[in-house]
Amino acid sequence: MKTRTLLLVWSVVSLAIPALGEDGYRFWLRHDPVPDQALREEYRRQCREMVVLGRSEILDAARDELLRGLEGMAGCTPVVASRVDRDGAVILAGAAEGGKVADLGSLASDGYSLRSAHIAGKAATVIAGRTDRGALYGAFRLLRLLETRENWANLDIVDQPSINLRIADQWDNPRGDVERGYAGPSIFRWDRLPELDDRYTDYARMLASVGINGIVLNNVNTAKNGLTGWKLITTHYLPKVAALASVFRRYGVRTYLSVNFASPILTGGLKTADPMDPAVERWWASKAKEIYTAIPDFGGVLVKADSEGEPGPFTYGRNHAEGANMLAAAFEPLGGVVIWRAFVYGKQHNPDRVMQAYEIFQPLDGRFASNVAVQIKNGPLDFQVREPVSPIFGAMPKTNQILELQVTQEYTGQATHLVYLAPQWKEILSFDTYAHGRNSTVGTLIGGNRYSGIAGVMNIGADRNWTGHLLAQANTYAYGRLAWNPTLPTEAITREWVLMTFGPDPLVVKTISDVLLRSWTTYEKYTSPLGLGFLSDREHFHPDPAHRQDLHKADAKGVGYDRTVATGSGFAGQYRSPWKERYESLADCPEELLLWFRHVPYTHRLKSGQNVIQQIYDSHYDGVNEVREFVASWKRLEGRIDPERYQQVLGRLEEQVAAAIEWRDAINRYFQEVSKIPDQKRR
Ligand code: GCU
Repeated sequence: MKTRTLLLVWSVVSLAIPALGEDGYRFWLRHDPVPDQALREEYRRQCREMVVLGRSEILDAARDELLRGLEGMAGCTPVVASRVDRDGAVILAGAAEGGKVADLGSLASDGYSLRSAHIAGKAATVIAGRTDRGALYGAFRLLRLLETRENWANLDIVDQPSINLRIADQWDNPRGDVERGYAGPSIFRWDRLPELDDRYTDYARMLASVGINGIVLNNVNTAKNGLTGWKLITTHYLPKVAALASVFRRYGVRTYLSVNFASPILTGGLKTADPMDPAVERWWASKAKEIYTAIPDFGGVLVKADSEGEPGPFTYGRNHAEGANMLAAAFEPLGGVVIWRAFVYGKQHNPDRVMQAYEIFQPLDGRFASNVAVQIKNGPLDFQVREPVSPIFGAMPKTNQILELQVTQEYTGQATHLVYLAPQWKEILSFDTYAHGRNSTVGTLIGGNRYSGIAGVMNIGADRNWTGHLLAQANTYAYGRLAWNPTLPTEAITREWVLMTFGPDPLVVKTISDVLLRSWTTYEKYTSPLGLGFLSDREHFHPDPAHRQDLHKADAKGVGYDRTVATGSGFAGQYRSPWKERYESLADCPEELLLWFRHVPYTHRLKSGQNVIQQIYDSHYDGVNEVREFVASWKRLEGRIDPERYQQVLGRLEEQVAAAIEWRDAINRYFQEVSKIPDQKRR
């Protein structure tokens, strides 16, 4: 299939800027008419008839999406028929018929083929899924093709996800707020449910369009400070959960819940939650059955245990495998997974917090039940701007693993700073852990296994544009695309998103892509150079470098946390070779992580010849200048995109300049005070 060059398309269209309703609500499924008449005509010839083979809710959803998208973009109003009888037929087939109308070969579940063919002598487009969900993904693939203005001719596309569990983690609380959410309140109205809201369907569409197949409806914190997420498994709430599940199911998204480990006490009236107590086991087994009666395709449960005030097996002198396996036994007969978080730390463990989860979990490798997956944050600390990849990935080869990423930007600028995280995620996914020798990347470790996967803490809220910062929709999109295939190139994903969201004007595509692709390292320059983490305040937004001095250890002589084996905490030793040697060695340690692994004098010379303290000062100035360049770049787009979204983004970028200056000045002042070394440039 050839991609029509955008320049060519562009030369024959005039600027078409829709006037109304450009508030970002439609995210990347905008379906506006293709302005190029010839191209629209070419598309229209391909969708004169629609034939759906088989019957299911998901196929109905796929058909509806196609009808809506094709009508919107190409002006098609295909005749819905039971068999092909004219040229320009679109055939949609899932589990029952997919293998009959297309050669699906060894395609994985959820995979699809999208091909041009002749059926009964008529020109047709065949979308065939191994499952109905696969057919739905194929339908969205066809819509993306139009949305990105590719040719609809001679299609021969086969695609499949390389990760089985592709999950959206909502940190939504039933009372209506979202923990670390920056896009307004929760979209879920637990007080109104089981009454449904169109917004649920639109969210399900968004998730399915990028291949997400699971959603955890509530926050991992279920009881701390009066939170009530633990209640969602009670008889009162299950009909509400079931109502939401019915919306997501239609789009191939299975529902999961975060549960509290002490539920037998909280809701069951038992005196203990000890995983070895038979009454506790019985309680969970019966609760699991109750959940599956209400939601027959329930995905499973997510557990934050022994962490930040959430209860866990340690209370009963049990380890995390014992805790997880007890739950796993309850859910296994029903097809449910137990997702057990490795974000466990506390004062009783190693004084270097980043070493704790490894020390707790690594000895349990091979001891978790087959339907348990351990969910590991990308880094050992907590979603910092930059961290080394968690050493747990390389250390538990016999355990199902789920990579947890944070799509919501808790430490990366929230909804004020533009920080596009796809480049960070790509580095994580392509990090070679050496767990099974070379090429054991994180992306491969979490793929190819029924209960392995990826989870993104979502950035969605009730703001009209879903993500607060309109350009943060790029993070939502990129998360889904990388969950589908971690090897997709960042540039390609970015380009797709910009094309779908803002249309094909080459200057728009180039400008927005460039700004997005630079934005993470720009933010790093003014908040966290050389692997310095945690310079922020309690809300993880404003600078407050003194607040967590214990984590960056800036003092009169130097800065950084010595985590070497030779002289420091020993964290570097948690990696496999060759990483442990690289991180241990001053000469070989990647400079962007230098201060994560070492405490160095301020006068330490970097590879550039610059010393550390001057690098910190300069980097903060460079970062602010880059944000100013973003504003200037954006201003060049005035008149090329609709005024509503233009203004929305401009407003946020201008706020970002002010926020970046606040960071620069606070951090540079702090380091001048602590080091007593002035900025050579006298700023
Ligand atoms: C971070 C975050 C918390 C969250 C926790 C977790 O510490 O600040 O809000 O609950 O991570 O992932 O469990």
